[in-house]
Amino acid sequence: MEGKKFVVAIDGPAGAGKGTVARLVAQRLGYLYVDTGAMYRAVTWKALRVGADLTDENQLATIAANLSLNFHEGKEGYRVLVDGQDVSEKIRDEEISQKSHYAASSLLVRQVLWAKQRQLRVKHHLVMEGRDIGSIVFPDAQVKIYLDASLKERARRRYLQLKEKGLPADLEAIKKEIALRDERDLHRSIAPLVRLPEAVYLDTTNLTIGEEVEIIVNVCRQRGAPDPSK
Ligand code: DC
Repeated sequence: MEGKKFVVAIDGPAGAGKGTVARLVAQRLGYLYVDTGAMYRAVTWKALRVGADLTDENQLATIAANLSLNFHEGKEGYRVLVDGQDVSEKIRDEEISQKSHYAASSLLVRQVLWAKQRQLRVKHHLVMEGRDIGSIVFPDAQVKIYLDASLKERARRRYLQLKEKGLPADLEAIKKEIALRDERDLHRSIAPLVRLPEAVYLDTTNLTIGEEVEIIVNVCRQRGAPDPSK
């Protein structure tokens, strides 16, 4: 009988660059990349759209349970579809970033999304990123990475991203916003972000994306990551 599918769990604070790195690692290994933050964002987007009360976790959990979520790599990169609609850009809105903590701090919502996340391992080797992947979703993940960077560096990267898109950006405001998100991720009672002792700790402050990918892919190979093309 075939064993459990291989999971690379990548956790870490907002703005550490998990998305970019996880996606590249998934491409290198030929595994499915899953952005779990996009799931909490998608629930929040839908809730705002239908005028639900974000502080009512029953409403949010019902939305989460009925949401049809699809992820795929398209010509324009990684796309997130909610009920067939492409919301990839919409879920990155500042409003969604600021309000997703309602869905993220609800146990009912998390239980629904945990089930969806675990279901993906039935068929796929995964590179999954978020806050609680190594701690709760897949405590038996073959590889666990904690991706970190200083607050200053994370704010600087976000600032440059916004500037690149021609959007207004204020470095000090971004720093405060990220610090607030850290506070919420680290100190919520349900599924807080934790640095597990068994996770490989990677401080990316002074690393390039290429170097980060190389380090993670090497850890995966050392742990016997299967090659799906063989
Ligand atoms: O990584 P992100 O900024 O896209 O995450 C969006 C929100 O979801 C943020 O409030 C943190 C939360 N989140 C979480 O609680 N657990 C995860 N596994 C992923 C994201």
